[in-house]
Amino acid sequence: MGGTPTYNDDVDWDSWPVQDYLAENYRELHPSDAAVIAHHSAFYRRLEPGGAARSVEFGAGPNLYPLMLAGAASRRIDAIEASAAGVAYLNRQLNEGADPSWEPFYALCRTLNPQLPPTLSQALSVVHVVHTDARSLIPGTYDFASMNFVAEGITEDFSEFKQFCGRFVGSVRPGGHVVAAFMENMPTYRIGAASLWPGCPVNRRLVTEVFAPLTERLAVTRIDSDSSLPDYGDSGMVLLTAVRPE
Ligand SMILES: C[S@@+](CC[C@H](N)C(=O)[O-])C[C@H]1O[C@@H](n2cnc3c(N)ncnc32)[C@H](O)[C@@H]1O
Repeated sequence: MGGTPTYNDDVDWDSWPVQDYLAENYRELHPSDAAVIAHHSAFYRRLEPGGAARSVEFGAGPNLYPLMLAGAASRRIDAIEASAAGVAYLNRQLNEGADPSWEPFYALCRTLNPQLPPTLSQALSVVHVVHTDARSLIPGTYDFASMNFVAEGITEDFSEFKQFCGRFVGSVRPGGHVVAAFMENMPTYRIGAASLWPGCPVNRRLVTEVFAPLTERLAVTRIDSDSSLPDYGDSGMVLLTAVRPE
């Protein structure tokens, strides 16, 4: 990559290496996961338990912890994922039981939000996997939306990053909430031995500039990079909560 930017439609997401990504990022609970879970749990504790009829996870991939967290507030979670490999993994987790490596994540989610049900399988029972492009969702459908490490990891083009974030905010009804996490300053990234994926470097200032015109009650924070995770060339993570104006 380099020269002309790689756009979302240029990428074969079906070949995205789910098992390598899981092995490198989510087989154990890293300090940055704990920090994102703490940030998102504070957001979910402010929402009425079960108060949302329908919520969405944008680009769910194989990461189960955002789905666990949303289970406290939502009676139905649509996990939107473009990759056949990601969809197959999610469906296996929901239909055959989650990998045991997710249990420590759920224990932390539940400690930080006791509104969650006793078991991981109960929390995930409200998740519906939807194999589609998140850009095709009907605007205004959801009560709240969550997105983790997607808009900045699916394109190299900042305008497309911005448009994707616009679709994300637009997916919720007026007055609906959004919560998100972004890799900070991540260039193109590698998964496994060889595969190369697009990155769009963003930081707290750029995320604020993109979301400020679209939202109110915008809160943007950041955390430092986690040396226990693969070095994607990032400098940490940017975390956000906001509300779509009425
Ligand atoms: C870097 S991964 C992040 C996965 C996950 N959200 C996480 O927290 O680890 C980006 C994900 O977005 C998915 N994706 C890429 N383009 C998409 C699109 N247009 N609509 C929905 N999902 C998309 C990819 O297949 C991949 O699963």
